[in-house]
Order: sequence, then C-alpha cells, then structure tokens
Amino acid sequence: MRKKVVAGNWKCNTTLQEGVELAKAVDKIVAEKGASDVVVVMGTPFTHLTKVVESVNTKRVGVSSQNCAAEAKGAFTGEVSAAMVKSTGAEYVILGHSERREYYGETSETLNKKVALTLENGLTPIYCCGEPLEIREAGTQKEYVINQLKETIFSLSADDFKKIIIAYEPIWAIGTGKTATTEQAQEMHKDIRDAIAAQFDAAVADEISILYGGSCNPKNANELFANPDVDGGLIGGASLKAEDFIEIINAY
Ligand code: 13P
Repeated sequence: MRKKVVAGNWKCNTTLQEGVELAKAVDKIVAEKGASDVVVVMGTPFTHLTKVVESVNTKRVGVSSQNCAAEAKGAFTGEVSAAMVKSTGAEYVILGHSERREYYGETSETLNKKVALTLENGLTPIYCCGEPLEIREAGTQKEYVINQLKETIFSLSADDFKKIIIAYEPIWAIGTGKTATTEQAQEMHKDIRDAIAAQFDAAVADEISILYGGSCNPKNANELFANPDVDGGLIGGASLKAEDFIEIINAY
C-alpha cells in the first residue's frame, strides 16, 4: 500500500530559533492529534537541519532539506552535499522545485545528478514537477509534466524509482492562492501514475506516492486528498503554522 505523505516546504523562511520552535510545535501537535497513517515531513533550510532533527521525534516527523548539491564533494563554494544532509539525520531531500528550476537554472541534467547522489546516500527524494501557466492555458500540461519525468527519474531502475516520492506542483498555483481544482489535480496525478505504469509496471505505479502542491490549505486539503490518485501534499505557506499544518495532515 502506498503511503500518505504530508510534507512542509518552509522555503527561505524562519531563523534557526523560529524554525526550531516551529518544528517542536509541529512535533507536539502531531503527537497529540496526528493521524498515525500519515507520514509527516518538514522541509527546513539547511542551517536548521541538525537542530531540528535533535528537537523532534524523527519517527513521528521526518526532516528534509530543500535541495542538495549536484556534486558529491569538492571545490563547490556554498554548496551542501547529499552526504552532508544525510549526516544531519535528515532523511528526505526536496528536488526540482519549480523555484529552483526557474530562479537557479536547474536543468534535468543537474537534477539527474542530484537524484543519483540523494539515492546513493540513502535519502528519499521528494521530486517536484509541474507546468507554468502558459502551458496550462495551451492545454499541453500532460506532455510537459510527463516529459519532465522522462528526462529525469524515469531513467532510474524500478528499484530506485520506488524510493521516490513525486510532488505535482502546478506553478500557477504556488503561493498564488489559486489552487488546482480537485478535477485538475486528480487528472494530472492519474496521468502521472499511468505514465509510471507504462514506463515500469502497474505494481510500481501503485506504490508511488504522488503529492499535490500549490496553495493547499486547511480549507481545500480535504477535497484534494479525497482523490484516488492524490496521496498527500507538499505544503508551502500553510506549513509555517503548526495549527494549519495539522489540519492538512488530518484532512484525509
Ligand atoms: P504554497 O503552498 O505556499 O502555494 O507552496 C507550495 C509549494 O511550492 C510547496 O513546495
């Protein structure tokens, strides 16, 4: 049975002290109220990883970075490697977020290296895909998103592919308050799952968790998560408040 996952992406928010407080609040509220069958993850800035890992029960609330370097180590000033992330005790790495593709020029080639290093280090990639508004308006979003997957994670072996969590995040819905309708989300998630079945097989497709991201909040999570192919969410803004995040976690 595939897992239900609700992952927070804090992006470039919170100082270390604020982040530790938030992580503790999330851990506490998940302990008190969280549905036991939902995997909860917090995607924190690199600087927070070690402290956050130390401050929470990581069996209850997993910890993720939001990126990692495309190289294993060496003269790459300012980069943080997958091995470094692993050494903090974090278990997940968000990769291919549209903000990284758009603002930092991440290409499929770079992402292939990052995915490989993440897997080599025993970390779970939360791999993002999603189309910009002009592609949605042109009606070619399915081809666009499946192509993002074909150029990257579809070339993995089935065994490695099964370790990945996919997050579908339509760019036009990120931070805009404009959520995909439940039909739009389900349609794309099913398209992704069908493409996985075609590339690998139906059993692999059935095992992969596909999360929705883009203005997901306590009000709309229930409807989105009710879709058969939506296995949870990657949550930006609403993951910065423990009270909102827990409502999303419990939206199943
Ligand atoms: P928002 O939930 O703030 O729209 O962000 C979504 C996102 O980009 C998560 O990675």
